Amino acid sequence: MDTATRTPPPPEAPQAPLVGTEVDADEPVLGRVICEAGSPNMERVQFRILPGRHTTVGRMVGIRHRRPTGEPIITLVRVDQMREFNPHEDAESSTVADVIPFETRYAKEGKSTVIYRSGEGELLEEALLNPDGTLARIESPETLPLSGSDVVDVPPEFVAEALNFAPSPDTGLDLGTVHGLPGVRAMPNRNIVQTHMFLAGGIGRGKSFARGVIAEELAAHGIPQINIDPMGEMVEATEDLGGINVVPGQKFALPLSALEADDVLDAIPGINRSTNIATLIGYAHNGLLHLKTLAKGEHFGVQELVARIKEVAPDLEMQKANTLMPAVQRATSLGHIDFIGDPFPWEKELRPGRIINIDCRGRLVPELRLIAASVARDIQRLAKARKIPFVVLSMDEAHLIAPNKPEDLVTTQVMREIARIGRHYRIGLILTTQSPADMDRSVLKRLLTRFIFAIEPDQLESLRGVFADAPEAIIRHLPKLPIGTCVLTGVSETVKHATVVDIRERKTRVGGKTPDIFADLAERGWPSRKSIDDLVAQRSGK
Ligand SMILES: Nc1ncnc2c1ncn2[C@@H]1O[C@H](COP(=O)(O)OP(=O)(O)OP(=O)(O)O)[C@@H](O)[C@H]1O
Ligand SMILES: [Mg+2]
Repeated sequence: MDTATRTPPPPEAPQAPLVGTEVDADEPVLGRVICEAGSPNMERVQFRILPGRHTTVGRMVGIRHRRPTGEPIITLVRVDQMREFNPHEDAESSTVADVIPFETRYAKEGKSTVIYRSGEGELLEEALLNPDGTLARIESPETLPLSGSDVVDVPPEFVAEALNFAPSPDTGLDLGTVHGLPGVRAMPNRNIVQTHMFLAGGIGRGKSFARGVIAEELAAHGIPQINIDPMGEMVEATEDLGGINVVPGQKFALPLSALEADDVLDAIPGINRSTNIATLIGYAHNGLLHLKTLAKGEHFGVQELVARIKEVAPDLEMQKANTLMPAVQRATSLGHIDFIGDPFPWEKELRPGRIINIDCRGRLVPELRLIAASVARDIQRLAKARKIPFVVLSMDEAHLIAPNKPEDLVTTQVMREIARIGRHYRIGLILTTQSPADMDRSVLKRLLTRFIFAIEPDQLESLRGVFADAPEAIIRHLPKLPIGTCVLTGVSETVKHATVVDIRERKTRVGGKTPDIFADLAERGWPSRKSIDDLVAQRSGK
């Protein structure tokens, strides 16, 4: 049979047929559900794509059919695979066609009885329709789509509703559009900031750019943000959004009281943790934290720490000169760290809509960790005491701050704590990394809205089990999509189903551009490619 003939339901049918509905009469059909290898079932369906029609990986399509009660429904399916079947081009036929000197001709798709394309995907939701074809409500899939049912494009509002997107930017974060459906704004509810966000992906795929888009959206909703900026990428955007850039050591410092004893010992170069000297410094610091900071909310600095060391040395029987003196000396050396000093007035500066960007360009990893840990602790204490509004704390290179190591760093512990109970303290985290495999698993698991950009296969492996509905086939497809396209995943309250999103354009300036090294070399006297023969000739003095 060359052209598939479909038998229309007899006009006198007493009950509407299960396949197809009357509201779809004029709708262009994309494909038809086929019965192949266990499909259709309640998880997956395969469908033949009609000649001349097309779909893409990651896209949502709908199957028009009915509940057994007769209610018209569209089952929403996310396409994750497409293939073509053409037996004229199997290896043998293709070889024969090349070696036998006869022209091979066969009817193309649409005319041929054996050539077809198919797609397959996962059942996501069941949309119940009103008699006029508009959306009544969305429920979980409970009706088996039958083979032969029509596969159709899904109206934008169905997609937005199925994904739990906000109805307007008034309550949503306007991040871009659903890939392949430019009419559907990718607008997760703004509440997602309370359950933390995570951006992962390979080099230059658009993570920082997207973080900037999120910054714009959060600023528009009045949410204060503190960003630790290892590369200075958010400096311009912060200016554009009316925030402040602060450089540690220059009008920005952290008090010693923002650090735990372990941070303080980490900050003293070469100190041996097993010595009495370290024990004495740690003990004195803990004492001050309890007496001043936790009890009274007061800060302290290096001088107070030194005084406290002298005071408590006798309690530990460590007053001998060979312990006390080096301990005092070591503690005094903390005064040389340029970003330890008077506390930053967070309470005054964290106003609605404000971004405070901590420009950490040029800082070494241990310094970055110390800054991150102390900012996080400071914020945590103020948030617990309800002295600041809800605030988002964000960081790039998160694998450095909360690495996946058997021995916990202080920063990992702080991040875990904020990730775990930040929602109650009113702190939201946004962490970005190129290397999720190197990041602490328990932090990773608690960042509930995720933006996954094209990523190396070994890094993807590390994200397995972290996704709400593992769209691995779609993530593997990402490198083929443009920069700035990512998979957005979440849990049912945030982003109900993983979706491919094209991140929107920035309204603020994009910082941290890759330096143009060739322009620099041109300025230094090497304007363009030279001939290698000339170089060699020059060298040999010809
Ligand atoms: N959504 C987008 N729209 C337009 N251009 C984009 C988009 N996303 C990224 N780009 C472009 O790609 C460049 C690289 O993006 P970005 O710096 O965000 O990558 P990254 O993932 O943070 O990389 P790295 O891992 O090196 O930090 C940007 O400077 C920008 O020019
Ligand atoms: Mg980046």
